[in-house]
Amino acid sequence: MKNVLITGGAGFIGSNFIHYLLKAEPHISIVNLDALTYAASVDNLKNLPDLSRYIFVEGDIRDRTLIEDLLRKYTIDTIVHFAAESHVDRSILGPELFLQTNIMGTFTLLDAAKRFWLEEQSVPKAEIRFHHISTDEVFGSLSSTDPAFSETTPYAPNSPYAASKASSDHLVRAYAHTYNLPVTITNCSNNYGPRQFPEKLIPLIILNAFSGKDLPVYGDGQQIRDWLFVDDHCAAIHVVLKHGVIGETYNIGGNNQPTNLSIVETICDLLDELVPDQHVPRRKLIKFVKDRPGHDRRYAINIGKVNADLGWAPKYSLNEGLRETIQWYLDHLEWARSVHEKRDYQKWISQNYTERDGKQ
Ligand code: NAD
Ligand code: DAU
Repeated sequence: MKNVLITGGAGFIGSNFIHYLLKAEPHISIVNLDALTYAASVDNLKNLPDLSRYIFVEGDIRDRTLIEDLLRKYTIDTIVHFAAESHVDRSILGPELFLQTNIMGTFTLLDAAKRFWLEEQSVPKAEIRFHHISTDEVFGSLSSTDPAFSETTPYAPNSPYAASKASSDHLVRAYAHTYNLPVTITNCSNNYGPRQFPEKLIPLIILNAFSGKDLPVYGDGQQIRDWLFVDDHCAAIHVVLKHGVIGETYNIGGNNQPTNLSIVETICDLLDELVPDQHVPRRKLIKFVKDRPGHDRRYAINIGKVNADLGWAPKYSLNEGLRETIQWYLDHLEWARSVHEKRDYQKWISQNYTERDGKQ
């Protein structure tokens, strides 16, 4: 791993991974390709450890000419593919972009990599790798008694987002099987941490609770997610890039499975302690709202394979990770304000919440 192309590196996990990798690997160079959609922020890439090994390119993963130019110009040997439309609720209201970005974007990258690496043989085969970042949502929903998702759990995606990610996983697998493209895939559970766009549950609740706004909990709030602190996810991707077996898939999870309601209550209590102002007790701000259509009930990840084969396990407890996350948002209220002021964000909040029950 010398010259790494990271897609979607101005988003939440991608930007955390760039910070992580520049520190962890002092000899690699990174090209970050990102279309700067609503979910991206160039501020996420402030204060990088070593700017001399980092290049930002604004562009679309569906732009075949651009991808091929970048692969050649920077002699890319490793692609770490994060770029995606990532929010389930948005996929329910507008699925088409998810299909275009997540399926066609992944196809374009795979096909360009195949030409550059396998047909032109521009980099020694032993040095190349396409790593695809995927999600546990491809496995569908668990009942309260089902065993956790493993790498052999059948795919059963339920939302347009999950279906588009499942399709992209299948394409990656097909390029490995048919063309011998050296790939690895990680299917990860819900991440949280610094720099997450505040449309997702944890940052939305932190910022609303901080400023005394309603805390929207979908349905009965008894859904379960397997929360993973983003630094732990970055460490998992790093270990898979270094030691993962070509062609293998690894499930990554946090071993933290509270209900949504319980995580919202924990955030309220932590904020009450850190910011004891007029909004205490923040639990009174919790508001049950209409459920997400087709809402998956429970996710849980079995991390047995990545733990046994590569020695990875999450380091952060939920409490430590939440404290660090809340503190990051409190220290970056300017970052949050700039997101809140964007017209697209206000439009989204109105579409998803104000219009949720068809009333103001
Ligand atoms: P995000 O929405 O925060 O960031 C996505 C980034 O991709 C943005 O910077 C955006 O500008 C960029 N992007 C979107 N379309 C693009 C295009 N056509 N060309 C180039 N760049 C484009 O997402 P995230 O939460 O950081 O997720 C990153 C990846 O991890 C996604 O593939 C997602 O499916 C996967 N994942 C996320 C989670 C999670 O909990 N957030 C969990 C498991 C897997
Ligand atoms: O499981 C991995 C997936 O986790 C990733 O692939 C996705 O990119 C990521 O967005 C995330 O999907 P979720 O739908 O699980 O995350 P979200 O933060 O949107 O919601 C978490 C849970 O909280 C879910 O059960 C829905 C609920 N929720 C969410 C929001 C935004 C609420 O109750 N209220 C809300 O306002």
